[in-house]
Amino acid sequence: MQKLIKDALQEIQQASNLQELKNVEVKYLGRSGLITDLLKTLKDLSTEEKRTKGQEIQEIKKSFTENYLIAEKKLQKQAIEEKLTKEFFDITFNEINPQRSQQKGSLHPLSILQKEVEEIFSEMGFEVADGPEVESEYYNFEALNIPAHHPARDMQDTFFLNCPTDKKQGQLVLRTHTSPVQIRMMEKYGAPLRLIVPGRVFRYEATDATHDSTFNQVEGLLIDKNISLAHLKGLMQEFLKRFFKEEATVRFRPGYFPFVEPGIEMDMLWTKNGKSKWLEVMGAGMVHPNVLKAGGLDSNKYQGWAFGFGLTRFALLRYNIDGIRSLHSNDLRYLKQF
Ligand code: PHE
Repeated sequence: MQKLIKDALQEIQQASNLQELKNVEVKYLGRSGLITDLLKTLKDLSTEEKRTKGQEIQEIKKSFTENYLIAEKKLQKQAIEEKLTKEFFDITFNEINPQRSQQKGSLHPLSILQKEVEEIFSEMGFEVADGPEVESEYYNFEALNIPAHHPARDMQDTFFLNCPTDKKQGQLVLRTHTSPVQIRMMEKYGAPLRLIVPGRVFRYEATDATHDSTFNQVEGLLIDKNISLAHLKGLMQEFLKRFFKEEATVRFRPGYFPFVEPGIEMDMLWTKNGKSKWLEVMGAGMVHPNVLKAGGLDSNKYQGWAFGFGLTRFALLRYNIDGIRSLHSNDLRYLKQF
């Protein structure tokens, strides 16, 4: 018996992989394994012998199992390490069409233009800021001087989310414009501020060639001392010149947005096929004192202006296309042209 266990432990030590180790187990503990056979002999012995022999065999079995488990752990680890160094899996390989993995992705036309807008404004000293697409009624409306039941809420048909909400924040909505980020930035950074906020906005409206329920806006906000709309006019003229790469002519008309006073709309002179016409391109105005207050700023000390334009609209002009639905279609044959 002593020789048996000595041999067994030696064989366990010598097993160089999991299969060999398994074979050792079968040899000793299998259905007709050497240790199993020993156990079988017990039944022919006297009660006294059964007790002493039985205990001895059990100890052999225990020692075998302990050593076996240690060796198994070691060999498993070794097997994993071997796999890691030997096997190579090419995640770029595509069995069905090996050529496909050669195709490169490209930026979406709206992303390209958004980057350009960010660059132009960055050069003029503006930060690029961001805010949540799922907003509360408080930020989307209340803080922007659009109280509940104000008729101006009908100007923007809103997607409401069916979620429990708290009293102050009101219901959750998909933001209908990027203006709520004005409040968030005033709250976070105070004054002065000089930033743009490009982002997606959502409105529940009928879609046609130039309207979609999701579109991209760029908000602008400048807060400081002694700011006037004259700064805005000069800035937008310069921006349009850099964006469209030709001299831009703009004009201001009065317009109404509850979060600015006075409010204006900006038109741009657009020439196509030798004919010029005024196109409405953005809303803007001096930030309303109630909005400054909601953002925690002293409206006697600071003032500023804000603007919001549709990037999607500018994309149509820039690329000289007339429908926005193809822009949002995800059709690569279309998108690759840009
Ligand atoms: N948020 C307005 C809209 O979506 C645009 C705007 C922004 C107007 C800032 C004035 C000032 O229509």
